[in-house]
Amino acid sequence: MATRVEEGRVSVIIPTYNEAENICKLIGELEKVLKGYNFEVIVVDDGSPDGTAYVAEQCGKAYGNVYVYDRGARRGLSSAVVYGFNVACGEVYVVMDADFQHPPQLLPQMLDKIASGVDIVIGSRYVCGGGIVGWSFSRRVVSRVAILLAKIFLPKTRGIRDPVSGFFALKRSVIEGIEFTERGFKIILDIIVRGRYGRVEEIPYVFRGRARGYSKLGVNEVISYLAQILTLAYPK
Ligand code: GDD
Ligand code: MN
Repeated sequence: MATRVEEGRVSVIIPTYNEAENICKLIGELEKVLKGYNFEVIVVDDGSPDGTAYVAEQCGKAYGNVYVYDRGARRGLSSAVVYGFNVACGEVYVVMDADFQHPPQLLPQMLDKIASGVDIVIGSRYVCGGGIVGWSFSRRVVSRVAILLAKIFLPKTRGIRDPVSGFFALKRSVIEGIEFTERGFKIILDIIVRGRYGRVEEIPYVFRGRARGYSKLGVNEVISYLAQILTLAYPK
C-alpha cells in the first residue's frame, strides 16, 4: 500500500483486540491531550468479537480525525502496528496500547523530544522514574528474561533499558523501506535492529494495571518472541 505523508502530522496508532470498554475513553483522552496538534488516530482492530471496531467508529465520528481499520481476523499485535504504519499519513508515528497502561498524558513530552531531533522516543519502565505496578512475580521475571535475551542476541538493544516497550514515538523516516518480521508482540525490536536512526531516548512511565479487559500475551506470543529474536539475529 502506498504511504501518504502529511508534513507535521502525528499519527497515533492503536492496535486493538477486545478493547470495546477502553477505546472510546482513550480516543476522548487523546483528543484532549493533543488539542492543537495536527494529528490522526488510527485504530487497527482484528475482528474483535466484543465489537471494538464498531465502538471506535461510532465514537470517532465526533472528531473527524479517527480512522478505524477492521482486518476481520486475529493477526497479531506487531502485524497490526505495521498495518497502521502503512495506512498512516503522518510524519511522526506514536504507537500505544488501548488499555491505558500507556499513559496518554506523556504524548506531548514524547513529541517535544521528536521535535528537538530525537528519532525514536521509548516510553520506558526501566529508567529512573519508571516502573511497574500490579504485576505478578512471574510476569516480572518473564519481562526481565525477555530483555536479557534481546541484549544477548541483538547488540543494538544494549544501550536501551526497555527495548520491549509497546509505547513509543518515531519519525517516519526511521522505518521507511525496512522489512518487518511482523510476528509476535514486539515490533520495537525490529525497529531498533533494522531502523535508520541516530538518537534514541527513553522517558519514564509507570505501567499500571489495565483499565478494563485482559492481557493477550500468552504462550504463543512468548514462542514468537524467541523466533523474532533469532530472525533478527540471524537474517537470511
Ligand atoms: N489488532 C490487534 N491484534 N491488537 C492486538 C492483538 C492482536 O492480535 N493482540 C493484542 N492487541 C492489542 C491489545 O488490544 C492492546 O491494545 C495492545 O495490543 C497490547 O496488548 P495487551 O494484551 O494489553 O498486552 P500487555 O499489556 O500484556 O503488554 C503490552 O505492554 C507492554 C509494556 O509496554 C504490550 O504493548 C507489550 O508489547 C509491551 O511490552
Ligand atoms: Mn495491556
